[in-house]
Amino acid sequence: MREKEKYGSIEEGSFDYFETVKPHPRPGQTEEQPKETEKFNMIGSYTPRVDGDKIVTGQAPYTHDIKLRGMLTGKILRSPHAAAEIVSIDTSKAENLPGVKAVLKLNEEKVRYAGQQVAAVAAVDEYTAAKALALIEVQYKTLPHSVTEEKSREPDAPQVHSSSNVQQFNQYDRGDIEAGFKQADVIREFTYRTPVEIHHPTETHSSIAKWEGDRLTIWDSTQAIHSVRDGLARTLKIPAARIKVIKHYMGGGFGSKLSLNEHTVAAAQMAKISGYPVKIVLTREENALCVGNRPSSHQTYKGGVKKDGTLTALSLVNYTNGGINRGDRCSEPMIDLYKCPNVKDVQYTVFTNLGPSRAMRAPGHVQGTFGFEGFLDELAAAINMDPLELRLKNYSTKNQGDTGIPYSSKHLEECYRIGAKEIVWERRNKVPGEGTGRYRRGMGVASQIWWGAGVPGTLADVKIHPDGGVEVICGTQDIGCGTRTYMATIVAETLGLKPEDIIVKIGNSDYPWAPISGGSLTTPSVAPATRDAALKAAGQLKQMAAEKLEISPEDIELKDGKLISKANPDKSVTLREMARSMGRETVFHGSRKGMPSEYAYNSFGAHFAEVEVDTLLGKVKVLKMVAVHDIGRVINRQTAESQVAGGVTQGLGTALFERRIVDQNTGRLVNPNLRDYKIPTSLDMPEIVALFIDKPDPYINNLGTKGLGEPPRIPSSAVIANAVYNAIGVHLREIPMTPDKVLNALKQKEAV
Ligand code: MOS
Repeated sequence: MREKEKYGSIEEGSFDYFETVKPHPRPGQTEEQPKETEKFNMIGSYTPRVDGDKIVTGQAPYTHDIKLRGMLTGKILRSPHAAAEIVSIDTSKAENLPGVKAVLKLNEEKVRYAGQQVAAVAAVDEYTAAKALALIEVQYKTLPHSVTEEKSREPDAPQVHSSSNVQQFNQYDRGDIEAGFKQADVIREFTYRTPVEIHHPTETHSSIAKWEGDRLTIWDSTQAIHSVRDGLARTLKIPAARIKVIKHYMGGGFGSKLSLNEHTVAAAQMAKISGYPVKIVLTREENALCVGNRPSSHQTYKGGVKKDGTLTALSLVNYTNGGINRGDRCSEPMIDLYKCPNVKDVQYTVFTNLGPSRAMRAPGHVQGTFGFEGFLDELAAAINMDPLELRLKNYSTKNQGDTGIPYSSKHLEECYRIGAKEIVWERRNKVPGEGTGRYRRGMGVASQIWWGAGVPGTLADVKIHPDGGVEVICGTQDIGCGTRTYMATIVAETLGLKPEDIIVKIGNSDYPWAPISGGSLTTPSVAPATRDAALKAAGQLKQMAAEKLEISPEDIELKDGKLISKANPDKSVTLREMARSMGRETVFHGSRKGMPSEYAYNSFGAHFAEVEVDTLLGKVKVLKMVAVHDIGRVINRQTAESQVAGGVTQGLGTALFERRIVDQNTGRLVNPNLRDYKIPTSLDMPEIVALFIDKPDPYINNLGTKGLGEPPRIPSSAVIANAVYNAIGVHLREIPMTPDKVLNALKQKEAV
């Protein structure tokens, strides 16, 4: 069966992405979830960000903005060579430069990609730090390198690691694949490719380290304050209890800030040596080189289908290039999403002398969905069937992959229905490419599956002060998605206050534990814990008010800062008065409970796209995107729509322009910037319609909510390729669909 996933050269082997983000229902550990069937006032509606004004006026502190007294600037020297032995490093000139306070050798053996860290300095200012870097003398003995999947697969290719460049890392079998092909009326086999994609968060990575005695404080641009703390404790061999990690605001991460980074360790070490705080801010170029990327895929699907659309066999062989790290397993959509009794998957990673791969917004699922959902459209065309009908024909209400158990909830069918209506699906070409003329329009659909159930054991506190002030405290982090806003909203809703009344304290590893903000885990972990704490606070307040008003607690509702009798609204007492009578600050501990183990927990969605292809210039214009998601209950519609807009934007970028270009002779990146690495701008964006089923999941957690971080990114490239196929009748099996590829495809079609 599926093997354990290993990610991250930084903490090699310590971080297992899929194992971390998949739901972990355990028999016997399930506490009963309070069922929340009530209608809410604020939860589920449009709530503006409680900190939106701070963010847009530049008052919200990002790690880049933080300045400490005596703080030094750290910089990292990186290898210019894709593969080399380090013969010697002479740091004496750098050490003797006035203003330099610390110099570190980070690698004295071998470099495996251009951009790998070699040494670091900390100096009184950036200018001096840059000057010191230039004074470090490194003697390299260059070695042959390989920076393409093709070259690394050749038998006599330069070896990236000490073992073979090509490693099988996953195999999955269900049923009898050969018997499945025998039952098929039509068999097709096609290969799909996706390029390496770079995270490029708006805010580049940065860390500040400060020691006070044996205590270390880190300000970090991170998705995971607790993981950074624990990773540093292991790396520096000091107790985790002596480390505090703080993150206030962040401009995105998408996986590239999901665990401890090398520069954070260097900052901590140089702060120790120098006795001053050290800040390291990575440049845009460093962001392109060394903090992660989405590995490429090279997926060959073979599938069998009956004339009525029944899938009989599906197989996949994938080669993924994750640089010096392992690539992504991209078979999950094929294995899990549709009913098919006979499935086979083999995944190979191919090492190259390029920067390490890292989890990136729905790792594997994005690549796999591009390949598999594209392949489904080609199967549909082969049997003259509507692509949507083929998906419905093989619809599954049970998890197909690991467990065979029913989903806790799945409303994908409704996503299809609503999305098809919104885009007016009947307008599509019945036969791909049947249109004529220079501009040809087409429509596509692609589906999505992800996890996003959240992590049992997540903690949150609600604190009520005697002056009536209310705080909510949780060791989670807002990576830009609006965590503070929904925490405030949930507490406000539960206690009858306004979101702006609630003080939200997050982003500090001394606060109660919460998981990484990755894997679409944050909302379904933190929201239920927050709700639990707020309900406990409400329970005690009601109890106290009931005694004072001489009514039963069940008769009381919390509204407009008061506790009011439902039967006799004249009877009321203010929350502030009840808080005062508590006499001291009172803390209510909330936790996110377990999940029953007899269900599979997944989120679902379907995207629809309409595109127009200019067949003279080969340009693709996306006209409209409809994204319909089933994430259980929506907590804040406003930030949920933003999340979808981001997923669609990134998907459009990868579908049409984004690609990392590597010079094969030097092994260096040609476009480590945002001028030549094209991401979409507002002029590229279509109308985006984000819709939600918004039905609470009955088993998942007390709010019935699933995560939305990754889902809208999963089908958003695939759906554009499928729409282009419908427009021009040739499936572009490789993205980005740049004009040269579109024109070539049209030429080949004419030649047939
Ligand atoms: Mo995401 S790749 O779990 O930040």
